Amino acid sequence: MSILNKVPLGSQGLEVSIEGLGCMGMTGFPGGSVYGQADAAESIATIHRALELGVTLLDTADIYGPFDNERLVGQAVAGKRGQVILATKFGFEIDDQGALTWQRNGQPAYVRKSVERSLRHLGTEYIDLYYLHRLDPNIPIEETVGAMSRLVEEGKVRYLGLSEVPADILRRAHHVHPITALQTEYSLFDRGVEENGVLEAARELGIGFVGYSPLGRGFLSGEIKTPDDFAADDSRRNFPRYQGENFYKNLALVEKLQAVAQAKGVTPAQLALAWVLAQGVVAIPGTKRRQYLEQNVAAASLVLSPAERAELEAAMPVGSAAGAAYPAGL
Ligand SMILES: NC(=O)c1ccc[n+]([C@@H]2O[C@H](COP(=O)([O-])OP(=O)(O)OC[C@H]3O[C@@H](n4cnc5c(N)ncnc54)[C@H](OP(=O)(O)O)[C@@H]3O)[C@@H](O)[C@H]2O)c1
Repeated sequence: MSILNKVPLGSQGLEVSIEGLGCMGMTGFPGGSVYGQADAAESIATIHRALELGVTLLDTADIYGPFDNERLVGQAVAGKRGQVILATKFGFEIDDQGALTWQRNGQPAYVRKSVERSLRHLGTEYIDLYYLHRLDPNIPIEETVGAMSRLVEEGKVRYLGLSEVPADILRRAHHVHPITALQTEYSLFDRGVEENGVLEAARELGIGFVGYSPLGRGFLSGEIKTPDDFAADDSRRNFPRYQGENFYKNLALVEKLQAVAQAKGVTPAQLALAWVLAQGVVAIPGTKRRQYLEQNVAAASLVLSPAERAELEAAMPVGSAAGAAYPAGL
């Protein structure tokens, strides 16, 4: 199997594998799983196999668990810290008892509290890429990014990122401190960034784009055929896109993807991922098993012809997925 290529992310000198590994599904949320039952040993083996295959970018966040995911990732990379670009996020509030409030908090004091917690849970002295997970509508972005920039000065963080912000916020943040990466949902299901100015702004400012949920939270794999394929505690049951009529409308889109994949002799997940990578962005597919990881790494070597790209884009145009990407408030 080929080793993944490395690419610059942003304009400040950070280099990452073109495909990272999303670790969110390796632990649960209070009261449920993210994408079905996770097994810690297989998750850690998946991270180790990823490093062997040249994946350098590992993506986590303080809210995954909360904290369990950072602890698991920290455990997996102990003794291998130099091989890894560790990316984590803060900004959905976790209170002092460790409970997730789902409020957004971008206050400078909370920035500092969060980084200290993440460093402790990851078992590291520095975070390579520190993202604001969501904008706090009550705090000017300049204040939040100003506080984040002090973490860079102190050596606790190497590079800064933002997640799911509009183009104007990205520009304002970049004035305060160079932003290295913007992480936003991007898949054949979610092509909004192509039209809302976000992708264009990131390119203009030299900010690296990291596409998350490139497999449409697994739905683009074609392996989910009825709502009952989700475990009873699977978080996708709460997402409008995978509920009721929306589920079946979206399944019809996936069937089109399956037809193109079959003709090419690859899996739908591989084709969906190759399409995101073909947009010239970094993608962080999530998996908690080595088998999928290996298929996903192999997908980075696929070359899509202009005709194949056009066929996929016509089959799943911007805005074609039925139902909101998120439950209200997230
Ligand atoms: N910034 C944000 O707000 C935000 C939001 C969501 C996610 N993220 C980050 O982005 C990462 C990736 O997104 P995601 O995990 O939500 O969604 P995703 O990568 O689109 O899909 C993950 C799902 O696809 C399945 N899968 C993976 N590879 C597969 C393959 N080759 N064939 C069939 N199924 C496959 C996984 O199964 P298994 O779980 O069984 O392996 C999992 O259920 C997350 O892990 C997280 O780090 C960030």
